[in-house]
Amino acid sequence: MDKLIIEGGRPLKGEVEIAGSKNAVLPVLAATLLTDKPCTIRRVPKLRDSMTMIKLLRSLGKKIEMTGNDVVVESKGPLSHVAEYKLVSTMRGSFCVLGPLLAKLGKAQVSLPGGCVIGVRPVDLHLKGLHALGAQISMENGYVITKARTLRGTSVYLGGVFGSSVLATANVLMAATLAKGQTVIESAACEPEIENLCHFLQAMGAKIDGVGSHRLVINGVRQLHGAEIHVIPDRIEAGTYILLAAATHSDIRIKGANYAHLWALVDKLKQAGVDVIQQGNVIKVKNPRTIKPVGVTTYPYPGFPTDLQAQFMALMAVTPGISIITERVYPDRFIHVAELNRMGADIQREGPNAIVQGKRPLFGAPVMASDLRASAGLVIAGLAAKGRTEIHRMYHLERGYENLDNKLLALGARIHREKE
Ligand code: UD1
Repeated sequence: MDKLIIEGGRPLKGEVEIAGSKNAVLPVLAATLLTDKPCTIRRVPKLRDSMTMIKLLRSLGKKIEMTGNDVVVESKGPLSHVAEYKLVSTMRGSFCVLGPLLAKLGKAQVSLPGGCVIGVRPVDLHLKGLHALGAQISMENGYVITKARTLRGTSVYLGGVFGSSVLATANVLMAATLAKGQTVIESAACEPEIENLCHFLQAMGAKIDGVGSHRLVINGVRQLHGAEIHVIPDRIEAGTYILLAAATHSDIRIKGANYAHLWALVDKLKQAGVDVIQQGNVIKVKNPRTIKPVGVTTYPYPGFPTDLQAQFMALMAVTPGISIITERVYPDRFIHVAELNRMGADIQREGPNAIVQGKRPLFGAPVMASDLRASAGLVIAGLAAKGRTEIHRMYHLERGYENLDNKLLALGARIHREKE
C-alpha cells in the first residue's frame, strides 16, 4: 500500500489533461453485456475502478482487449449470470451489471455492492424499477437474485428521498432497452454520465427519447448490436483541478474538459471571486488576490455535485471567513472534516451541514484517505498547506484520478509516493 507525500504551500503552473469519466465508463462497460457483438469504447480512464469493471466483465465471460485508452469488448461464449462478491463489493458502480444481465439472460445474481464509506447506500430504487419491468426479486446470502421470462415496458417513478439515482436510472434504462413495449422512467437522473450511456445505447440500436432529461422514454427492441463510443471527459476530475488551482492561487490550464458540465461549480466560484473561463478546449482559472467565503448545497445534476463537496470544503477551509456547506445527496458524507481539522482547519459538523471558519494557512499533517473524493479534498488541502502532508491509503485516489501524482508533478507540485 502506498502513501502520498506532499510538500505544500507553493503555487502550481502549467497544463493538465482531463481523462475520460469514471462514472460514465462504468455503466458503458456494463452495457456491452446487452449484445454479443463487439463494442469499442474510447477514452477509457486507466483507473482502479475501470479495471475492476473490466475484471468483472471477464469473469462474466467477455473477452476484453485494452490498447492505450481504447477498450474492445467481445463475446467468447455464453455469459455467466453471477457477479461475484469479491469484485462487486469493492465498487458500487459494478452493481449496474444487474439490469443488462437480467435483460440479456432472463436472470441475474449480483452481490450487493460496496464502494465509498459515505453513509448508507441502498439499492431499493434499482429493485423497484426492475420489479416494475416484471422481474421477480429475492435476496440470498448477500446477493440480489432476479428472474424474468420476459421484461415488459411500464411507467416507473425513480425519484427517492434524495432525488434521482444515477445508477438506478442506468440499471433500469439498460434493462428497458430489451423489454417488450414502452418504458417511461419518470424522475430519471439527468447526469451527463447517463446522457453518455444513452448515446452508447442508441448507437447499439436502442430507441430512447428524452435523453438528458428527467423523463426517459424507451421503446424496447429485440436485440442490440455492437457500437463505438467516446467516454465524456471526467467533470469531477476537472472540477478537482479547478478547485486545486483556486486553493493554491495557481495558474493552471485544464485541457479537454467539458465546460458545460461544470456550471454549478463555475457559478459558485464566480460568487467567491474566482473566474473560471473557457478558451477553446482549455479552461483557465483566474485567481484574484482574495477569495470570498461562499456556502454551497449539493444536489443531483445540474446542481452542485456531491462528488466535489470535499474539494470545495478544502478551498473554503483556506478562505478567510465563514461558509456553510450542506450535503443533500449523502447527508453523512463528512468523513473528511476530522482529517481537515487535523491540518488546522476549523470545521464543525451539524447534521447535514458543515460550518467552515476559513483561515490561512493550514499546516501539513499525517491524514487518512477514507474515500475517493474525501481524499481529493485532502490533496487540495495538502497542496495549499505549509509543510509536509502524508496521505495514507492513497489507493482510494487511484479509484478515480488517473495518474494523479504525475499530473501534479508536471504542474510543479512537490509530491511523491512512499510504501506504507
Ligand atoms: C453515483 C456516482 C457517485 C455519486 C452519486 C451521486 C457512479 C459509479 N457513482 O453513485 O460518484 O456520488 O452518483 O451523484 O456513478 N439512493 C436510494 N436508493 C437507491 C439508490 C440511491 O435511496 O436505490 C440514494 C443514495 O443513498 C443517495 C442518493 O439516492 O442518497 C443518490 O445516490 P445515487 O445517485 O444512486 O448514487 P450512485 O448512483 O450510487
